[in-house]
Amino acid sequence: MSGIYGGRGLTAASGSGAILRDEEGKEYLDFYCGSGAALFGHSHPVLVQALVKASESPWTIGIGMDSKVRAALKGSLEELLPGHSVFYCNSGTEAIEAALKLAVSLRPGRKKLLALRRAFHGRTLGALSLTFNPQYRKEWAHLLPDVQHVKPEELPDLIDADTAAVFVEPIQGEGGVYPLSPSLGARITESCHKADALLVCDEIQAGWGRCGAFSASSLVGLEPDILCFAKGVAGGLPIGLTLWKKNLGDFSPSGHGSTYGGNPLVLAIAEASLRLLTTEALPSHAARSGTFFRELLGKIDSPLISEVRGMGLLNGVELTIKAVPIIKRMQDKGVLVLPAGPSVVRFLPPFVAVEEDFERAAAVFKEALEEEGS
Ligand SMILES: Cc1ncc(COP(=O)(O)O)c(C=O)c1O
Repeated sequence: MSGIYGGRGLTAASGSGAILRDEEGKEYLDFYCGSGAALFGHSHPVLVQALVKASESPWTIGIGMDSKVRAALKGSLEELLPGHSVFYCNSGTEAIEAALKLAVSLRPGRKKLLALRRAFHGRTLGALSLTFNPQYRKEWAHLLPDVQHVKPEELPDLIDADTAAVFVEPIQGEGGVYPLSPSLGARITESCHKADALLVCDEIQAGWGRCGAFSASSLVGLEPDILCFAKGVAGGLPIGLTLWKKNLGDFSPSGHGSTYGGNPLVLAIAEASLRLLTTEALPSHAARSGTFFRELLGKIDSPLISEVRGMGLLNGVELTIKAVPIIKRMQDKGVLVLPAGPSVVRFLPPFVAVEEDFERAAAVFKEALEEEGS
């Protein structure tokens, strides 16, 4: 197995809700959630039921056939995003690849692609060209399409008639948890409209209710032409969605494809998760939980904290020291979190986390800071 896997010193064995257990039965409060993919927590009973039911029908059917499940999810998405087409794929990076190919084919002849500094859009070559971190790019730089990475405040003025597409995360996750300001979001939207450039919003981490709305773009003034979701969409099963305004057009008939994309097994879970989002009003629940949590984090009196940032259930604390030692201490104390860049501790709790969970995460974080600082 690639050395990329492992490294945390923890063998996951079982889980329920916000709790993950290792082989020895030690329980962890999971605010890591498989890089945010277990958005509904582990073994959510509604999703388990949907999975069992779907497992009795064909799991995969390829791209040529119609399927009731595909049509059902398409219908449910249409209610939330009227007038949109969807391409189903299997991961976040694939959703971005599809968005990039689509955008370029819909704006032939335009040469400029714009993205933001600190952006993270994935690791396959197209998506990697949009990702900023030089460490992630350097070995493959010679293979990557040309993308300009600019400061957020510079972006609106750089969008022009030669711009095919602009890629933006409503709140940057991996790059350090930076929410876009709504006034800047509105200016980016306006510049894209004026230049007829396509605005692609990457909500792979921020979307599907996590940040307080089904689409996080709506919270920061962004009006996407193309929208990407992944991570929590099917409760942690591999999926990516690329949605776009139908009136823009479509891929050419041989322009794209995927063997597993839109397989009925995973889409059934996505459909169940979407129903949970709406029937249980999870986006507004996420907004309230996030505010509560940031208040707790903001009350921690530590010289090692420089800023608390976030939206809904995507939060980060910028430290004056490296994040990893704190994350290790927290894991030893039974709380799982992850870094976002060198000095940000990132918290990606599931919807099912309750007040006591947030209190425990904040208390353990405080303890870890105190121990590290002493
Ligand atoms: C904003 C964003 N875009 C794209 C990706 C890539 O998704 P995946 O790891 O599913 O390929 C991620 C993953 O962390 C992400 O956070």
